[in-house]
Amino acid sequence: MPATDAPTRYSRLQIVLHWLVFALIAQQYIFKDAISTAWGRVTDGLEAGFDPLVLAHVAGGALVLIFALWRLMLRARRGVLPAQEANRLQGVLAKITHVGLYALMILMPVSGSVAWFGGLQAAAQGHNVMKVILLALVALHIAGALYHQFVLRDNILARMRRAQD
Ligand code: HEM
Ligand code: HEM
Repeated sequence: MPATDAPTRYSRLQIVLHWLVFALIAQQYIFKDAISTAWGRVTDGLEAGFDPLVLAHVAGGALVLIFALWRLMLRARRGVLPAQEANRLQGVLAKITHVGLYALMILMPVSGSVAWFGGLQAAAQGHNVMKVILLALVALHIAGALYHQFVLRDNILARMRRAQD
């Protein structure tokens, strides 16, 4: 899409989906012990039993996948905002972080589902490696947002607060 057609702000839907995904991913980590215990039982050959927090992990993860694909579709359809970068290196770092976040918003639910529904131990191992990488990327992303906001003082948080339409 030519630069003149590029949107100047995220849409309301893009912003709502961003913060919903943030809340969903936060609960995946905060209540992680339930799924961990259930998986331990499964690998020990026992019944997992019903636990609402396990259901929340499975359903919450599935929603993250759906919302990530939806966001990618919205990006493709609306066009991408021009980067708000202080220098080339910082712009590249932000881009790599965003690509990594999107990749893991897809790979985490996929690997979790293959483990849970397919009973594949290797997928659970991959899920466990990626959970650390996702956490690191989220930390980097938040550090970047705070750096923009309080050091560069370019009010980047407004991009994820005020919608264009
Ligand atoms: C699980 C946590 C989070 C994930 C997975 C996530 C993911 C993303 C992704 C993929 C983008 C790029 C959007 C796009 O261009 O399509 C983005 C943008 C943004 N996020 Fe997050 N985010 C998270 C948490 C946060 C938090 C806690 C903050 C605030 C401190 C934040 C602030 C922002 C801002 C300001 C942008 C716009 C950046 C720009 O347009 O250059 N995010 N986020
Ligand atoms: C964005 C989506 C997801 C995130 C961020 C996430 C995050 C996590 C985290 C942090 C753990 C670690 C528990 C621990 O360290 O004790 C975990 C474990 C697990 N998750 Fe997910 N998860 C997601 C999606 C899913 C989905 C959709 C499923 C299943 C349908 C799933 C199935 C599992 C399983 C089976 C484990 C146990 C693995 C083990 O303990 O070795 N996850 N997840």
